[in-house]
Amino acid sequence: MKYFLLPLGCATNKADAERIAGVLSSVGYTTANSEEEADLIGVIACSIRQSAIDRVYGKVHQWNQWKKNRTVTTFVSGCMLAADQKKFLKLFDLVVPLDKVPEMPHMLKEYGTSPVEHFWDITPKRQHQYKALVPIQNGCDKFCTYCAVPYTRGREVSRSSKDILKEVESLIQSGVRQITLLGQNVNSYGLDKKGEELSFAQLLDAVGTMADKAPHRVWIHYTSPHPRDMTREVLEVQAKHPSLAHYLNLPLQSGNNDVLKKMNRRYTVEHYMTILDLAREIIPDMTVSTDIIVGFCDETEEQFTDTCRAVERAHYDIAFIAQYSVRPGVVAEKRFADTVAKDEKKRRHTVLTDILKIGALNNNQQLVGKTIPALVETASRKDGKLLARTEGLKSIEFASTDESLIGHFVLVRVESCDAWRLSGTYLSAADENPIRA
Ligand code: SAH
Ligand code: SF4
Ligand code: F3S
Repeated sequence: MKYFLLPLGCATNKADAERIAGVLSSVGYTTANSEEEADLIGVIACSIRQSAIDRVYGKVHQWNQWKKNRTVTTFVSGCMLAADQKKFLKLFDLVVPLDKVPEMPHMLKEYGTSPVEHFWDITPKRQHQYKALVPIQNGCDKFCTYCAVPYTRGREVSRSSKDILKEVESLIQSGVRQITLLGQNVNSYGLDKKGEELSFAQLLDAVGTMADKAPHRVWIHYTSPHPRDMTREVLEVQAKHPSLAHYLNLPLQSGNNDVLKKMNRRYTVEHYMTILDLAREIIPDMTVSTDIIVGFCDETEEQFTDTCRAVERAHYDIAFIAQYSVRPGVVAEKRFADTVAKDEKKRRHTVLTDILKIGALNNNQQLVGKTIPALVETASRKDGKLLARTEGLKSIEFASTDESLIGHFVLVRVESCDAWRLSGTYLSAADENPIRA
């Protein structure tokens, strides 16, 4: 029996898929190369925007058509809102909430049972050998008024630091080059355990200590922190360990205090900028990315302009800009009206992208002429190039057809750039851990 999984959301969603794959392979399923050749197809849903959920409906209607000609079992898991889950029951063979994933063999009427009870104890079947996602917490307590996550993933629960450190250690020993610590509010890690667990800074310190001693170079990333919970201590720990990457995703969402308030973000633009400045003071070569929503309920032209000014001031390297999408059942849906027209959201998206581009290009130009390490990810065969990522997760390409470099560190000299990509020349392999060398 072969399975195919289709994760449609963020990194957390991909990590969920790896644990679902772990359960399926533990009872003898193997991976199919495509939906077409699979006996079992699963979609790992994302509910963050209507467009993501629309894709789930699109897929299942297609699969249900196939059922006229062949047998196929379909299931849905991942981040689901109650309203959709009810409809999914009629469309899919199985609806598997994340906490029920360990029971999947039983639901599929397989004889084997999963050896574990808790989702996190499942051994993931990882997509990549050289990079890994490690969840450190689940859920979210922040209840930003626009957001589905607290409803799809529940309240914030921290995973035990002992388990996290064990997983990180075994990944490093197996040769993994890049590890991302994952959570919706990583820097509130441990707070739900009321003094019984490490703080995020302490956890990061322990992970950094481990990675610094690795037999090869390792980069540790974490995402996402919440501006409200960001501390000097976290940034200082990040600066202290060479293996902790100089990358920060600091979601701004809006550059206007009234909008932030309405979003229930519970910080001001001024506070946000203080943290951003502190981050750059402690780690001057920090690559910074952000998340922004344009066209949130009643967002005026002036309020949008404040966001433009904030993006200018922050000169981000990357921004994930989203057009506001109403989610059923969240606070904003009940309290405010979605008044900004679709076309206007689109326009604001474009305007903001243009502003972002100026800052990002300027940042990239500072790197031209420098020699930097990068982790090779894929090959672009048709133009004889390898594509890699820098410590700050910027894309960098260089001429090479040596695909054995994929999954390894290289040193590249940056020759030119545009706003979203660097181009360079290959200098040498760079897997050796510079800290131990
Ligand atoms: N926990 C993280 C992000 C989680 S969701 C944080 O606090 O930033 C990822 C991004 O999706 C958010 O940062 C936000 O920009 C976007 N998003 C969330 N809900 C949305 C909605 N209803 N419409 C449009 N974008 C949304
Ligand atoms: Fe959603 Fe806000 Fe939680 Fe991020 S912090 S997951 S945006 S509710
Ligand atoms: Fe991620 Fe979407 Fe869930 S953004 S946490 S998969 S709702």
